[in-house]
Amino acid sequence: MTSDESFSRMQKYLNVEDTLSQEFKTFLSTLPKIKGSFGPYGYLYEGFWYFPMILRGIVAFRRHFHPQSSDIFLITYPKSGTTWLKSLVFTIINRHRFPIEANHPLNTTNAHQLIPFLETHIYHKEENPNLDHLPFPRVFSTHIPWTTLPESIRNSSTCKIVYLCRNPKDIIVSLWHFQNKLMHDETKEMATNSILETFENFCQGVNDYGPFWRHMLDYWKQSKENPDKIYFLKYEDMKEQPSMHLRRLAKFLDCPFSSDEEESGLLEDIMKLCSFENLSNLEINKNGVLSYSGMQSSVFFRQGKTGDWKNHLSDEMVQKLINVICEDKLSGLGFN
Ligand code: A3P
Repeated sequence: MTSDESFSRMQKYLNVEDTLSQEFKTFLSTLPKIKGSFGPYGYLYEGFWYFPMILRGIVAFRRHFHPQSSDIFLITYPKSGTTWLKSLVFTIINRHRFPIEANHPLNTTNAHQLIPFLETHIYHKEENPNLDHLPFPRVFSTHIPWTTLPESIRNSSTCKIVYLCRNPKDIIVSLWHFQNKLMHDETKEMATNSILETFENFCQGVNDYGPFWRHMLDYWKQSKENPDKIYFLKYEDMKEQPSMHLRRLAKFLDCPFSSDEEESGLLEDIMKLCSFENLSNLEINKNGVLSYSGMQSSVFFRQGKTGDWKNHLSDEMVQKLINVICEDKLSGLGFN
């Protein structure tokens, strides 16, 4: 696929306005809306902002999805490291079926194809898709907030949720780059969207799936109340102490590493396979295109580091984020 073809497919994927049903348009007309930074309008649904393409998938998912007892959901706020989490979990739970060898699926397939997004992939393609062909345990990913998940998932005592959280300052920078990459024109010029605009929208909570702090805090609170069901992981912790967190993740997913596996260096092999350096240099991730969206796989790989915010956010911006977001919203809840 040429880059022009991929760009026009992606535009079609993101801009669904012409294909919305009358029923959905009527539903949208009942919601508060705001001029969008990403798509024409953002709509407020159950306290969070979305553009129509996402919201249509969420509504279909809520209407038709039936969880199975062994389902695993990987949940993140956008740009928190979803691609990494998908790669790690896919490798951990399939390690007997797919040992780490040259023909491992991650070497030829982008992680977003291996573990599909619910609202922007599975329920984007069809209103009520047949999921019978999926192998067990089924693993899905989503950015949907806790309060908007179907009750059947929230009340399930057996489904498992892994929530990956990231420093919001790095999320803002990652989001800004991502939006600019998606919106670039054929000449590959960066879009005019400024980091200040992305920052202000983020602080006001008016970007997709925002507000961030409520998204993250709801899952954090749930993980405290129900640690066997929700595993709350931080991107920065995974970077700092990968083996420890990989071990905990596998245990949470009911597939702990045996001592033989540990001794054979399997944990290191998994981290290496799923590392930014390895995945971002694979042909499939450098030049591949996601079949469901037309997006270049490469848009999900930029630096894969912590702390790039220092190169982009001014002191005033950082102070505002700390004051307005962190102290106002997070303090008093024991979240550091
Ligand atoms: P940066 O833009 O800061 O580099 P998501 O997958 O949720 O869209 O998040 C994308 C962010 O995760 C990007 O951050 C991307 O570079 C980073 N990322 C992708 N793959 C990664 C990996 N294997 N390890 C660590 N970070 C990764």
